[in-house]
Amino acid sequence: MLTRLRNSMDVGRSIVSPSDMTGNSTGNPPASSTPRLTCSARLRETAQGARAALVVPTDVTSPDSVAALFQTVERHHGRIDLLVNNAGTFGPSGAVDEISPEDWAHTVGTNLTGAFLCAHHAVGLMRRQRPQGGRIINNGSISAHSPRPRSVAYTAAKHAITGLTKSIALDGRAHDIACGQIDIGNAATEMTAGIAEGAQQADGRTAPEPTFDAEHVARAVLYLAALPLDTNVLFMTITATKMPFVGRG
Ligand SMILES: NC(=O)c1ccc[n+]([C@@H]2O[C@H](COP(=O)([O-])OP(=O)(O)OC[C@H]3O[C@@H](n4cnc5c(N)ncnc54)[C@H](OP(=O)(O)O)[C@@H]3O)[C@@H](O)[C@H]2O)c1
Repeated sequence: MLTRLRNSMDVGRSIVSPSDMTGNSTGNPPASSTPRLTCSARLRETAQGARAALVVPTDVTSPDSVAALFQTVERHHGRIDLLVNNAGTFGPSGAVDEISPEDWAHTVGTNLTGAFLCAHHAVGLMRRQRPQGGRIINNGSISAHSPRPRSVAYTAAKHAITGLTKSIALDGRAHDIACGQIDIGNAATEMTAGIAEGAQQADGRTAPEPTFDAEHVARAVLYLAALPLDTNVLFMTITATKMPFVGRG
């Protein structure tokens, strides 16, 4: 299954297949509702062959849509053991005076509020269920540490994900809820296709950057997901070895 997904160009699709092997109920499938209905066919294709997969097209920017997702998960499975907050968008490029308030709201709404909404419902159920507890893995980014040029909304949202991760990890302790974050740099997906061809650098040059197979992200998430609840990896950073991050260029 991993081989079949190797060229799927989407971190979420790579994760869904191996995580199913753990037998966990996984919320936040990478999907949504209007105007994203065309995505449900892609979701069904992703879920093909996955054991007991439940496909629920969801828009993570919509509180009602996310609430409906978790009601469906509870109705079908009675509990949730794992939430991978994967949905994200780079949004339109721009410095702080260049992007519109609408673009800011959409980028922050998808990357940050979407993760909050899913965690809000997941933690509620994890606290209520018996045995109590579960795990949340937030998809952060290298942009949670250091910005790309002209990426103010994405960078702000991903920095805020770090705060969300730490807060959930702290407040979750009392309820056997573990929370960690994976910070990816340049996995080969639709989002990074342009980066492989040429990405703006801090000194103004445009240069192609190395990428790596998103399957390795899936394997890392599977490792995090399989840990017992008394063990947590708070942050994991996985990057293309030669990308310009460590070393300031
Ligand atoms: N690739 C990297 O190197 C890299 C680096 C750092 C962080 N990340 C993070 O990894 C995550 C996945 O990125 P990717 O590289 O796989 O990008 P991608 O190929 O663009 O995939 C983005 C995913 O998010 C989903 N999504 C977007 N808006 C949504 C919404 N409103 N509701 C529900 N789902 C929504 C998309 O669903 P549809 O397919 O239905 O549109 C898609 O599955 C993101 O959080 C991203 O920030 C990736």
